[in-house]
Amino acid sequence: MNEQANEKKFAGEAAAEYVENGMTVGLGTGSTVKYTIEKLAERMNNEGLRFRGVPTSFQTERLAQSLGIPLVTLDEAIELDLTIDGADELDNRLNGIKGGGGALLREKIVASASKRTIWTAHAAKKVEKLGTFPLPVEIVPFAAAVVLRKLEGEGMRPEIRQVNGEPYETDNGNWIVDLHLGEIDDPEHLEQWLNLLPGVVENGLFLNRTDMAVIAEGSKVTVIKK
Ligand code: 5RP
Repeated sequence: MNEQANEKKFAGEAAAEYVENGMTVGLGTGSTVKYTIEKLAERMNNEGLRFRGVPTSFQTERLAQSLGIPLVTLDEAIELDLTIDGADELDNRLNGIKGGGGALLREKIVASASKRTIWTAHAAKKVEKLGTFPLPVEIVPFAAAVVLRKLEGEGMRPEIRQVNGEPYETDNGNWIVDLHLGEIDDPEHLEQWLNLLPGVVENGLFLNRTDMAVIAEGSKVTVIKK
């Protein structure tokens, strides 16, 4: 395993320690939270940990099912105790960019239904200013040309995410536009502006949506609280 994969494992597993008996837990998406989910299955088998998960993507749902983790839908859970998720970038105010794995809409919905949210990441994800990572925006395919023109008009260098030469389709049947912004001066304004564009379903700015981050640098795990 390379250094980065090791850090993801340390961070992901450390975050799993925050799950307690009886909790309903939002299960994020990505290669870091994969380690959280595997660790939770291990705790279930070794310590008798009891919890229910709400997956934020089909990918996470399949992983959790394969490990025997009991799952409920968001409709059944309504309110969650905790969500654990990854991030693509986070700043020192614990604002971040998510959606590199294309699951931003469900991730934001599940986080919004949770009493607490923890992000888990390796240290390279920490940034002074958000925006180096292309900002994912989920759009309705019908609106693609119109939305692209508006974003281009603002100099945002939008690109429809592709897989094998076709637009990447989210679990919700939508597309993702990645915005190459370089840096984001006013994330609060940008988040609102994007979400007011007809055809935009949600954007990957997660502002004031997490309480804590579990960050691994080498084998050292640091907890950043709000
Ligand atoms: C998926 C996400 C992921 O949490 C984010 O991309 C981080 O993924 P990874 O842990 O693989 O680096 O937002 O939509």
